[in-house]
Amino acid sequence: MDRIFSGIQPSGEIHIGNYVGAIRNWAQLVNRYDCVYCVVDYHAITIEYEVALMQQRILETATVLVACGLTPDRCKLFVQSHVPEHTELTWIFNCVTPVGELERMTQFKEKGKQHRHNVNVGLLDYPVLQAADILIYKAGYVPVGEDQIQHVEFSREIARKFNARFGDTFPEPQVLLSDAPRILGTDGGSKMSKSLNNAIGLLDPPEVIQEKLRTAVTDANRQRRSDPGNPDRCNIFTMHQAFSRPDQIAFIDHHCRTAGIGCIECKEILFKNMMEEIGPIQGRVREMNQNPQYMVDVLKSGAARCKAIAKEVMDEVRSKIGVKAGWMGK
Ligand code: TYM
Repeated sequence: MDRIFSGIQPSGEIHIGNYVGAIRNWAQLVNRYDCVYCVVDYHAITIEYEVALMQQRILETATVLVACGLTPDRCKLFVQSHVPEHTELTWIFNCVTPVGELERMTQFKEKGKQHRHNVNVGLLDYPVLQAADILIYKAGYVPVGEDQIQHVEFSREIARKFNARFGDTFPEPQVLLSDAPRILGTDGGSKMSKSLNNAIGLLDPPEVIQEKLRTAVTDANRQRRSDPGNPDRCNIFTMHQAFSRPDQIAFIDHHCRTAGIGCIECKEILFKNMMEEIGPIQGRVREMNQNPQYMVDVLKSGAARCKAIAKEVMDEVRSKIGVKAGWMGK
C-alpha cells in the first residue's frame, strides 16, 4: 500500500479552509493508503507563540483530527516533536539545500514581511523540515491545500538532490489536492487563515458561524438584491461547492445569476448544510474532551508506530551519508 503523509500546525483554531482543503480529504484517503498524519509543533515555533498555550493547542488540534474520522484504527496520528528523527533528517537535508532556493519560497517571503522583527533561521528552513516530515516515511503522496504545493515540490527536489549525491533512497512525493484546495476568508479577498482574522472556526458555535457568514463578502458587483450575481466571483459559492448537494449548487448557480435568490437566502442554505456536516464533529470533540486520557494514549501509540519507521529510515540515511559504520551495529 502506498504511503501518505500530511501535517497541520497547532497554531490556533482549525478553520473551514483546513477542513475542506485538507482534513476531510485525509479522512477519505484512509481506506486506500497507509496514512500518516502529524501535528507539526516544531513548524509552529518558527513564529512567535504563547508557550503556555502550546500543549493545549497540540491536544486540541489532534482531538479535532480524530473527531473528523482520523481514528487510530484508520491511520497513524502523532505529534512531530515526539519523533525526533524528523529534525535529525532536517539537518542532513540542510546540507544538500542551497540557501538561495529557500530565500525564494513564497511563504518565506510572505512570513518574512509579516514577522519582520523575527526572521529566524527556522522560518527560512521551514520547507526543509517539511521535506523531512514527508521523506522520513518515504511517503509517495501528500494531500494538502493549494498553498502547500510549492513546499511539496520542494520536497521532491530535496529527494532528487539526496538521491543524486548518496544513491537512490527517497521517492519523489506527489501532491494530492482536495476538491476545495483554496477557500477564501470572510473578507472574500485573501486565503482563509488563522492569522488574517477572516476564518470560520470548525469549532465556532453555530450562532458565531451564522454571523460570520451573514457579514461575509460576496460578489462585490452585486450591490442590490435585484442585481444578478456571478457565482464564479463569490467565495460563498465556493463554500457551497464544498458543503452543498449537487442539485442545490445548480439551483444557486442559476438563481444567483438571474437574481432569483438574494445573498441572505443563499447564505442561510450554506449555513444549514455546513452545520449538518460540522455539527456532529463538534459533538464528538465535546465528547472526547470528557476523557483527555484517550488522546494522550492515541498520540503515544501513534508516535511509537511512526518512530519504528523513522528509526529504520534514519539508519539507512546515516549509512548512506557515511557517518554510520557497520561496526556500530543497530
Ligand atoms: P497548515 O497548518 O497551514 O494547514 C493545514 C492544511 O490546511 C490547508 N489549508 C487550506 N486549504 C484550503 N483553503 C485554505 N484557506 C487553507 N488554509 C490551509 C493547507 O494547505 C494544509 O494542507 N506547512 C504545513 C504543515 C506541514 C505539512 C508537512 C504538510 C508541515 N509538514 C508535511 C504536508 C506535509 C502547514 O503549515 O499547513
